[in-house]
Amino acid sequence: MTKRDNTNGRNSVVARSFSKYARGYDKHARLQKQMAERLASFLPDIMPDQVLEIGCGTGLFTQHLLAHPLKQLILNDIAADMVERLQSKLTLPRYCRVEVGNAETMEFQAVDLITANAVFQWFKLPLETLKIFNSYLRPDGELIFSTFGPATLAEFRKTASIESPASLLTFIKWKELIHEAGFSLRSSASETRKSFFSNTLGLLKNLQQIGAAPYRMTSSSDLRRLIKEYDENYSTKQGVYATWELFYFSAKKP
Ligand SMILES: C[S@@+](CC[C@H](N)C(=O)[O-])C[C@H]1O[C@@H](n2cnc3c(N)ncnc32)[C@H](O)[C@@H]1O
Repeated sequence: MTKRDNTNGRNSVVARSFSKYARGYDKHARLQKQMAERLASFLPDIMPDQVLEIGCGTGLFTQHLLAHPLKQLILNDIAADMVERLQSKLTLPRYCRVEVGNAETMEFQAVDLITANAVFQWFKLPLETLKIFNSYLRPDGELIFSTFGPATLAEFRKTASIESPASLLTFIKWKELIHEAGFSLRSSASETRKSFFSNTLGLLKNLQQIGAAPYRMTSSSDLRRLIKEYDENYSTKQGVYATWELFYFSAKKP
């Protein structure tokens, strides 16, 4: 088995998790929707001809891409049910093609822009994958993406004593990887947000509904302890809070 084949185990868990909650995703993915809006501001005014969107999900960011005149848009996601949801929601123009599969291991045609909103944190091998994405881009091609930083849900991981199932790399680390993968960084931004829930159970349900909890986190007695401790430590008048660290990058293939 090659190193890249190894990505399939975890990624099939990710695919199942997103597929399972595809129906309710849009209702609960308020933060991802806001991220999509901000990421759209990183898109060039004049879009290139051929665009590949990785991890398109139910289309929260795809909608922003479709607002531009394009010659070809390839939509990829590892979770078939997320893409089905997208197709039932949006009427896709003829220039769109859907390619379901693991973006870390499948092959894509040459394009001018690769973009993704809130996806790269799920990559098992981010550097290798960035290098491969670089090879799909034509000269002057662009990579524009958003992802989550290590402060994301830090309160939750501390209380539950668990590691993140996603790769939450620092802002500096992402910049290093972008550079190492042969891109030159054009612009970037980071922001920290807090989201509020009426209680910890509400937060847990939200994480599940957005596919961000792709394995059983804890036993039921641990769960009760987690809820109690989280409620005690992170309550405000607005309810319990969770922190999200959001990163945006725009890079170019020289
Ligand atoms: C947080 S959702 C974001 C979806 C969409 N981009 C949005 O803005 O709402 C992450 C998406 O990435 C997809 N995904 C995760 N790992 C992937 C991979 N290796 N290849 C392709 N898609 C992947 C998931 O199935 C899911 O739809």
